[in-house]
Amino acid sequence: MRILIVNGPNLNLLGRRNPEVYGRETLEDIELMLRNRAQELGIELAFVQSNHEGEIVETIHYHRDWDGLVINAGAYTHTSIAIADAIEAVEVTAVEVHLSNVFQREEFRQISYLSPVVWGQIVGFGYRGYLAALDLLHGRLSEEDAGS
Ligand code: DQA
Repeated sequence: MRILIVNGPNLNLLGRRNPEVYGRETLEDIELMLRNRAQELGIELAFVQSNHEGEIVETIHYHRDWDGLVINAGAYTHTSIAIADAIEAVEVTAVEVHLSNVFQREEFRQISYLSPVVWGQIVGFGYRGYLAALDLLHGRLSEEDAGS
């Protein structure tokens, strides 16, 4: 089972960026936690961060045959038809993650262009949201494998 983790703009600054909103963990901390969990579950992981919309689109295309996607598209969540189209086009099972509870914040953060093309959203649980997303995808994809 292969799962791609994508983080969008400014998430490379985690740990330093508004820690009261986004937590004290760095992106490297989160990657390590995910890699440890992935190893326990027997998942192959690719972990990508980009500040560029087109690069995120290309990363999704490049991994088109992978089984699952966990994506925190950062601010592109609220603007990017291109990323939503890429997820839809490759027909990957995706979970959208936000560290902060976007529904308790500015109105513009409550709009997601990705939500119509993902399996579900996890918001407000900090780094734990990524681990939950990995577990949820693993559960669903294992069931699908067993059924086919
Ligand atoms: C975010 C929420 C977005 O609104 C914001 O632009 C981010 C991070 C989150 O993880 O809470 O960059 O996706």
